[in-house]
Amino acid sequence: MTELSVDLGKRSYNILIGSGLLHEAGRLIQELTGTQQALLVSNPLVFSLYGEQVVNSLSRQGMRLVVAQMPDGEQYKNVQEAMKIIDRAVQAGLERSGVVVALGGGVVGDLAGFVAAIYRRGIRLVQIPTTLLAQVDSSVGGKVAVNHSEGKNLIGAFHQPVLVIVDSHTLLSLSGRDYLSGLGEVVKYALTFDADLFSCLEKSSEQILSRDLTVLEAIIKRCCELKSMIVSEDEREAGLRMSLNLGHTFGHALEKLGGYQTYTHGEAVVMGCMAAAVLAMQLGMLEEQELKRIATLCQSLGLEYKFPHYPPEMVYLHMQNDKKVQGGKLRLVLPEGIGYFAIRDDVPRQAVLEAIAACQALAP
Ligand code: NAD
Ligand code: GLY
Repeated sequence: MTELSVDLGKRSYNILIGSGLLHEAGRLIQELTGTQQALLVSNPLVFSLYGEQVVNSLSRQGMRLVVAQMPDGEQYKNVQEAMKIIDRAVQAGLERSGVVVALGGGVVGDLAGFVAAIYRRGIRLVQIPTTLLAQVDSSVGGKVAVNHSEGKNLIGAFHQPVLVIVDSHTLLSLSGRDYLSGLGEVVKYALTFDADLFSCLEKSSEQILSRDLTVLEAIIKRCCELKSMIVSEDEREAGLRMSLNLGHTFGHALEKLGGYQTYTHGEAVVMGCMAAAVLAMQLGMLEEQELKRIATLCQSLGLEYKFPHYPPEMVYLHMQNDKKVQGGKLRLVLPEGIGYFAIRDDVPRQAVLEAIAACQALAP
C-alpha cells in the first residue's frame, strides 16, 4: 500500500493506494475516526459490485451503518437527491461524530461530499473512489458540489475528506468509456505538470490499455502527489489551483453544448487539452513537434481529441461562463512546452476562435 499526505495543517489527511483495500476500509476508518456510525453513500451499480465488501468491512468493526443510494448519473447530482440522502441520515439519527463514506465515482463523491459538508454544519467524510477519474482527481482536494439547472457544480463547498482509500482493483470493472474518461485527466496532469509522467504514458500505453494495476497504481500515485501539492498551496483556488483546469475552459463549454449527455467530463477534457495545445502553439508557447506528441499519445491511448463541429463563436460564448473569467476576461491555462503551464488572460478572441477551427480540422 502507498500512503500520501495532503498537507493542510489540522485538516491534513492521507490518501491510501493499493489493491484490495476495500476489505480494509472498516478497520482504516475505525482506527482514524473512532466512530461507531457511518452513512454509506453509493449508487446501485457500484453498490452491487462493491457494497457487500465495504458493508462487511465496516460491520466487522461493530459500526452502525446506514446505506443510502442515489440513482446512477450526472443528472442526479442535484439538491433533491442530496436531500433524500440527508433524510436518511436524519431518520437514522446520524450524529455529528459519525462519518459519511462515499463509495463510487465523481458523481457519488461530489454529492456525498456535499451532504457531509452541510449535514449538522459538517461531518467527517471518507472518499472511496471507484473510477479512474475519481481516483486521480475528484476524491482529493475537497471540492464538493451538486448541479443547478443553470450550471454544473453551482452549489457546493470546500470540505476536505479525512481519508481517501483508493482500491485500484475497482478499475477492472469500469466500462471502457469510463476508463478512457479517467485517462483524459491523467493526460491533463502530464501535459500540465510533468514531462516524465508524459514520457511514462508514452512508453506504457499497452500496459495502461490492458489495465496493468502496478502501472496504474504508479500513475494514480503521481497524479495524487501533484494534486496534493497544489491543493496544499492553494486550497481555495486563489491562483495556482486553476492550473488543474488546463483544457477545462474549452471542455466545460463542450459539456454544456452537449447537454451534459454527449460527452463525459474526461472526454471533454481531452478535446479541451488539445484545443489549449493548438492555441498555445499558435501563440508560440508550444512547438509543432510537441503538439504531434500530444496527438500521438492520445491516439495510442484511444482518446478522441478532435474538436466537435460546433460554431466556434458558440463555443467561445459558453467559455465565458467559466469560473476563471474575471472582469469579463477569459483566463486560460495553456501548456508552455510539455509538463509546464502558463495562465494567460491576454489571449485575443480571434486567436481562440482560430484554435477551435484548427482543432475541428485536425486529422482524427
Ligand atoms: P461517474 O461518477 O458518473 O462514474 C461513471 C460511471 O461509472 C457511472 O455509471 C458509475 O456508476 C460507474 N462506476 C463507478 N465505479 C465503477 C466501477 N468500479 N466499476 C464499474 N462501474 C463503475 O463519473 P466520474 O467520471 O467518476 O465523475 C464525474 C464527476 O466528477 C462529474 O460530476 C464531475 O463534475 C466531477 N468532478 C469533480 C471534481 C472535484 O474536484 N470534485 C473533479 C473532476 C470531476
Ligand atoms: N478538479 C479541479 C480541482 O479540484 O481544482
